[in-house]
Amino acid sequence: MSLFVIGDLHLHFQVPLKARSQLTDPAWKDHETLFRKWCSLLIHPEDTLVLLGDHSFGRKLSECEEDLRYIEALPGRKILLRGNHDMFWEVKQTEKLNRMFEGRLLFLQNNCYFYKDYALVGTKGYAFEGPFLVNHKGHIVDWDKKKQAESERLVERESQRLRQSFEAAKAHGYRKFIMFLHYPPTNILQKSSPFTWMALEYGAEQVIYAHCHGEQHFHQSLQGKKDGIEYRLVSGDHLHWKPLKILD
Ligand SMILES: [Fe+2]
Ligand SMILES: [Fe+2]
Repeated sequence: MSLFVIGDLHLHFQVPLKARSQLTDPAWKDHETLFRKWCSLLIHPEDTLVLLGDHSFGRKLSECEEDLRYIEALPGRKILLRGNHDMFWEVKQTEKLNRMFEGRLLFLQNNCYFYKDYALVGTKGYAFEGPFLVNHKGHIVDWDKKKQAESERLVERESQRLRQSFEAAKAHGYRKFIMFLHYPPTNILQKSSPFTWMALEYGAEQVIYAHCHGEQHFHQSLQGKKDGIEYRLVSGDHLHWKPLKILD
């Protein structure tokens, strides 16, 4: 029995045109086929696969049906987190989605799931992504302060959602946590954030995140051990579409 993770499948079986213009890096060539192959090799029916958001380019549920069917057909128990592209999934629709897909997919938002003696908690998160003003040496010298202020509001809202997930797990008696975010826990200006503070507060063992695509974005947040917590970036192109096992 194992716990696997990956993010950002960006499936587009029903909206191919838009996706073609965005996924131009060679890392995305036939990625659905490659990922499905890796899953069939590595994941067994008793395993769990957490998918960390940006599942589909569809803007409404009817445009995501084939993408969700593809995910359903993967081996193991599938738990989905919201990404910034997942327009089909409004927070208040989570219970409805869980009812609609009962026995097929699990939607993680303001709730929690369990794996052995661990609680799996999470939310989309948020990290300010600029715009930044960069000097000729490539160093950041300024940024859009208005956008930064706006991003603080989003961070606050997402922190509350994350706390709700942790508290749901605690109410079930769980004391060991794996924490999932779609966005990286910190941006390039930060060494810590409300998300890293909360991971510390509840004693999360690992913080798993995605969202960062392309070589130039892979090192913009925490990776490896910090304050006893393991931080891992698991966006699909970063993992070359091979789901990462994070617990046995
Ligand atoms: Fe993404
Ligand atoms: Fe994203």
